[in-house]
Amino acid sequence: MAIKIENVFYTYAPQSVFEYKALKGIDLKINNNSFTAIIGQTGSGKSTLIQHLNAILLPEAGTLEINDFKITNKDKKTSYKNLRKEVGLVFQFSEYQLFEETILKDVMFGPLNFDVDEKRAQELAIKYLKLVNIDESLFDKSPFDLSGGQKRRVAIAGILAIQPDIIVLDEPTAGLDPQGAQEMMEVFLELKEQHHKTLILVSHDMDFVYEYAQNIVLLNEGRIVLNEDKVNFFNNKDISKYGIEKPQLLNLYEGLFNKQAKMYLSYDKMINLIVEEFSDVK
Ligand SMILES: Nc1ncnc2c1ncn2[C@@H]1O[C@H](COP(=O)(O)OP(=O)(O)OP(=O)(O)O)[C@@H](O)[C@H]1O
Ligand SMILES: [Mg+2]
Repeated sequence: MAIKIENVFYTYAPQSVFEYKALKGIDLKINNNSFTAIIGQTGSGKSTLIQHLNAILLPEAGTLEINDFKITNKDKKTSYKNLRKEVGLVFQFSEYQLFEETILKDVMFGPLNFDVDEKRAQELAIKYLKLVNIDESLFDKSPFDLSGGQKRRVAIAGILAIQPDIIVLDEPTAGLDPQGAQEMMEVFLELKEQHHKTLILVSHDMDFVYEYAQNIVLLNEGRIVLNEDKVNFFNNKDISKYGIEKPQLLNLYEGLFNKQAKMYLSYDKMINLIVEEFSDVK
């Protein structure tokens, strides 16, 4: 088990007029080498929850066990540097967090911070910049010269270069063009499949969630209201009352064949069936 969260509560600005109870008793287990999507309407607590995973936020009550680390409210002085080597968190709007003179230096910052030597930090930076499709000709440019989508990729490379076991991504594809977003999702899948990472993804894109995630956790007003494998999840009638729309592919399949998608149908198989159906029409 990579992650075990028990009865976690979190309140912003407690005991002030701005007090807001953002998490209200979260229980969640996440296995090693799994791909979990965390979804929910805006303000449901997704970003708040995942910021607990590398102790950027500490729980007001409850505990988190992450690999060999235990996070509670009691030990506020504990240094979580070693935890942050194991859990890499890419923030929502991470493109605003680049700060170094050059792109290469920005991505080297993480490994250097974890005492990797200069040469190895550079190797890692180059490897992960290439993985997220940043061309070598840009490495010496200022991050501020890049487009929003490129900045996002550089920020993601910066976390991947630390080589964490658990990779947590908050809306990593928001604002990317459709092809760029798909390529990025393929990179995440490869990290799970080839490099045995544990992936946790916050996303509003139900088609990506359906295509790539194994398990889906639905948050509503600071509580987990559903936590299921993806096919059961999207066949659950309750999701619409939480404002969750079915993936377009599922709607298309169900419209074409006039039945609910079966549990055993993989994403690829469903696409094949739809393509076959359309080729019969011709
Ligand atoms: N720093 C803060 N101070 C006070 N309230 C906050 C703060 N950050 C978030 N909140 C509130 O906590 C609630 C949960 O916020 P959170 O950012 O976790 O939601 P989210 O599910 O990530 O939303 P989104 O989909 O818009 O990113 C929201 O109502 C938000 O307004
Ligand atoms: Mg958020």
